[in-house]
Amino acid sequence: MDKLQTAREHFSKLVEEQLARVAKMKEDTGVVDYAKLDKIIIGCCGGDGIGPAITLEAERVLRAVLKEEVENGKIEFRQIEGLTIENRIAVNKAIPDDVLAEIKACHIILKGPTTTPSKGDGPNIESANVAMRRELDLFANVRPVSVPEEGIDWTFFRENTEGEYALGSKGIMIDEDMSFDFKVITTQGTRRIAQAAFDFAQKNGKKHVAIITKANILKKTDGKFLDICYDVAKDYPDIQADDWFVDIISANLINEKVRNQYEVFVLPNLYGDIITDEAAQIQGGVGTAGSANVGNKYAMFEAIHGSAPRMLETGRQIYANPASMIKAAELLLRHIGHAQKADQVLKALKAANDTIKMTGRSDGATGAEFANCVISNL
Ligand code: IPM
Ligand code: MG
Repeated sequence: MDKLQTAREHFSKLVEEQLARVAKMKEDTGVVDYAKLDKIIIGCCGGDGIGPAITLEAERVLRAVLKEEVENGKIEFRQIEGLTIENRIAVNKAIPDDVLAEIKACHIILKGPTTTPSKGDGPNIESANVAMRRELDLFANVRPVSVPEEGIDWTFFRENTEGEYALGSKGIMIDEDMSFDFKVITTQGTRRIAQAAFDFAQKNGKKHVAIITKANILKKTDGKFLDICYDVAKDYPDIQADDWFVDIISANLINEKVRNQYEVFVLPNLYGDIITDEAAQIQGGVGTAGSANVGNKYAMFEAIHGSAPRMLETGRQIYANPASMIKAAELLLRHIGHAQKADQVLKALKAANDTIKMTGRSDGATGAEFANCVISNL
């Protein structure tokens, strides 16, 4: 078949898939109310590298703070084994079918970082993260960053199912000289993340939402994102909405004179990925930040960093800092309606950060010692 024909067919298939996704989003209206469930099932997936070690510590903290709920059957913890890079390679799938079925039988997932082979170092398997976000339709990636002594209290609403990510593993190599990847933005996908950001702002007394794009260059996709966000903003007259290009916002975040004026950000997937690592670094490093991945039905909580395979290779996983996963556990508690317990965990986490020295090596404390300190401060 000639190159052009192959490319046309490839692109048609992508458009068909995305049209089907839009149709599904149009139908999806039901939001699960956790307060109405008899029992909330929390599935714990350790992941790869340091993932199992730090996820276990976060689970211990959760079990301690939810002791009563577990005892009276309101909350059940389940172990989900098998979300490992070895299994993914064996079945050549981002998430093996049996693991996905176990995940879907839970309401909430606590997930350790997973390893994704990047181009050139192994099979072309999609990221387990990206697959889980898509399979569970976790459209809002919510990442809080705060530095109280500087007046920084940011919450990022990263769109989590579209942009470059939706089609990231579906690019096409036309011939040895040319490759394409694709980016997709939809009205429905943007509206729901924008609503999540503005709703959050309204409920939390925030006055400002910054919309981040590169709409001067990516006129169709980012242009749509911008238009829809401003359209949603009309329903929130008390909240000031403005927009910034992603390049200047990355500069402004390190500009101490202006950065504490920002409160809530809404941004497409890839910019959200990049900017939230930058923001986390300002807070003290990617190891300090947790992330909530929220959909209408499911929610998944994780660290924002990777699986640090080198730490596992050198046997240092027991020294990995579980702070990011404990932060994820705090967000989990908030999501299922235990705000007071979430505050308790946050306070205890701060106390542990102030007293325990973690170096990632044997000259520092272990993750278990860190979690014990959190638990004793609850
Ligand atoms: C994140 C991570 C993931 C992403 C990777 C692991 C696929 O960087 O959660 O920010 O790019 O979204
Ligand atoms: Mg990232």
